[in-house]
Amino acid sequence: MVVTPRVTFCCTDTKTQPWLDGLRAALPNATVELWSPGAGPADYAVVWAPPQRFFDEQVALKGIFNTGAGVDALMKLRMPSNVPVVRLDDAGMSVQMAEYVCHAVIRHFREFDAYEADMQGGKWSYRKPRLRGDFPVGVMGLGVLGERVSRALAQFDFPVLGWSRSPKTVKGVRCFSGEAGFTDFLAATRVLVCLLPLTPDTEGILRRDTLAQLLPGAYVINVARGGHLIDDDLMALIASGHVAGATLDVFRTEPLPAAHPFWQHPQITLTPHTSARTLREESIAQIAGKILALHNGAPIASLAGVVDLKKGY
Ligand code: NAP
Ligand code: GLV
Repeated sequence: MVVTPRVTFCCTDTKTQPWLDGLRAALPNATVELWSPGAGPADYAVVWAPPQRFFDEQVALKGIFNTGAGVDALMKLRMPSNVPVVRLDDAGMSVQMAEYVCHAVIRHFREFDAYEADMQGGKWSYRKPRLRGDFPVGVMGLGVLGERVSRALAQFDFPVLGWSRSPKTVKGVRCFSGEAGFTDFLAATRVLVCLLPLTPDTEGILRRDTLAQLLPGAYVINVARGGHLIDDDLMALIASGHVAGATLDVFRTEPLPAAHPFWQHPQITLTPHTSARTLREESIAQIAGKILALHNGAPIASLAGVVDLKKGY
């Protein structure tokens, strides 16, 4: 007997209908329904930041598919402990993240903001070229996104350092790992890029005592989660001159509240959590492929992107 997989969709901040249409087209033998309170049991859930009630009610799940790379919003909920959680594994994000970070690093290194201001003021002037070797870029997190970003930066001949939990080897990148490697990593970094997952170990990791260890005139690029950064510590270090500025894509409260001082800060560049977007077509293809694989009996370990619930990413 052919068993029809039942898929439930519950994503906040997402245009629902194109996802439902896409999932139905990719899984023609499944039922795909938008979740609402009281809905019947499903086998597979496609979610982004669902309410607690979703997991309280959906007690027959065999797989939970997150429509983003970061699972910190899910990890705050009580989820069934024996159901695999699968996050997006790249799905078109790593190239976007490489573009964003390279753009931010190069914009800072080449002083394009200052040139833009000069040109807008009708001023034709040159600045002394900076030496690439003076701008070592340290990437925190060498996972799917961090590795791609660090390799892209190395293509521009920046000295690139990387830091991860377990030891890694990435061509062209000086790799550090664990708490033991953190101090040396920070001490050799001028431009810091955060691409860590938000977990109890990494919450608030961009704070006064860590950022103070960076080379003077440091620059901070946070594209991971707002919870990594202690906002006041960044502002204080910019005021002291130790940090030259920052590019921030993620914030503790999103949208960033209108009264937040980051909005008006001349040395802080903001974007609205857009450095690497979930691309619907790629993501649906990836998720549908994994639902079918699981439904046809593939072992969980054969899927890319399965979250280690103990580590929290
Ligand atoms: P990933 O593949 O899971 O990689 C995470 C990396 O962080 C791994 O290298 C891991 O080390 C390292 N790490 C985790 N905890 C650590 C710790 N305590 N100390 C040192 N290193 C640690 O994740 P990803 O796909 O690259 O995504 C990273 C994050 O980017 C996501 O969690 C999400 O928050 C964020 N993100 C943001 C956007 C945006 O638009 N702003 C878009 C997508 C994702 P190991 O390799 O040793 O495990
Ligand atoms: C976006 O921030 C993601 O985690 O995919």
